[in-house]
Amino acid sequence: MVEPIVIDGQRAWLKQYGKGSRAMALGLLNFVAHRFQLDALRPPPHRGGDAAREVEARRLGELQAQGVNVPDVIGSGHAALVIGENGSSFNTCLREADDAGRDRLVMAAMRALAEAHSRGAYFGQPLPRNLTWDGERVGFIDFEEDPLEVMDLAEAQARDWLMFGYGVAKYYADRPDCLQAMMAEAIGTVQAPVREHVHAVSGRLQRLARVCMKLGRSARTLAHSIFIAHGATTMGVLMVVGLCMDFFADGELDILQLFC
Ligand SMILES: Nc1ncnc2c1ncn2[C@@H]1O[C@H](COP(=O)(O)OP(=O)(O)O)[C@@H](O)[C@H]1O
Ligand SMILES: [Mg+2]
Repeated sequence: MVEPIVIDGQRAWLKQYGKGSRAMALGLLNFVAHRFQLDALRPPPHRGGDAAREVEARRLGELQAQGVNVPDVIGSGHAALVIGENGSSFNTCLREADDAGRDRLVMAAMRALAEAHSRGAYFGQPLPRNLTWDGERVGFIDFEEDPLEVMDLAEAQARDWLMFGYGVAKYYADRPDCLQAMMAEAIGTVQAPVREHVHAVSGRLQRLARVCMKLGRSARTLAHSIFIAHGATTMGVLMVVGLCMDFFADGELDILQLFC
């Protein structure tokens, strides 16, 4: 649970970590990721309580040392952290912006992602709701999972691009070409192994989608069962669900056009 609080007149955030049980959903996603060699989508362990707090505090410290715009840790307690205000919700900013403003925000976020990656940083879940915007800079929050526990750095950075692309795609339903062009520009600057992972994973997902198509009804049932597991979701699960829904909606994986 996360709630805004005020300390000495300054806005801050109290984050309390609940229990970390998502074994079923994580097991299912792990199986799918293994089966289809979607290494960058392998789910990191989802811990709860003090273990989750420790991961988040450590990751915030690492990212800050790498010069990434993340909030300060102001205090900590049993299964809880107090962190500084990092800006408005990027999601809200995207929703409220016009097309030109949205393009500026997305381009700024992709530049921030690429720049952080060039310093060796990685995020895990850089979805619009885990990004912030203070009017000048894109910031990053929410680090209670650490992808490096289950993959290497290039895979973790590839995962960031896949997550980000998935997260912003819904704002570009009418202008996918525009998002593709911006993504191509930003991703052109990142290291070759990262680009190759993004390409490989998105390519394998296309094959998975074709397999699902042949399976027909049972594939829908699988999508539904993943949806049920969504109750205990990680963004990784959401992403697979989202890709399934994207595919089942019109028989095409529009999102993948971004990476090909
Ligand atoms: N430091 C922060 N600065 C600004 N907004 C924050 C901050 N921490 C949390 N929030 C807000 O609270 C929401 C939930 O926080 P988050 O750390 O993403 O927790 P969860 O693990 O529940 O997703 C975010 O989407 C954001 O809107
Ligand atoms: Mg979050």
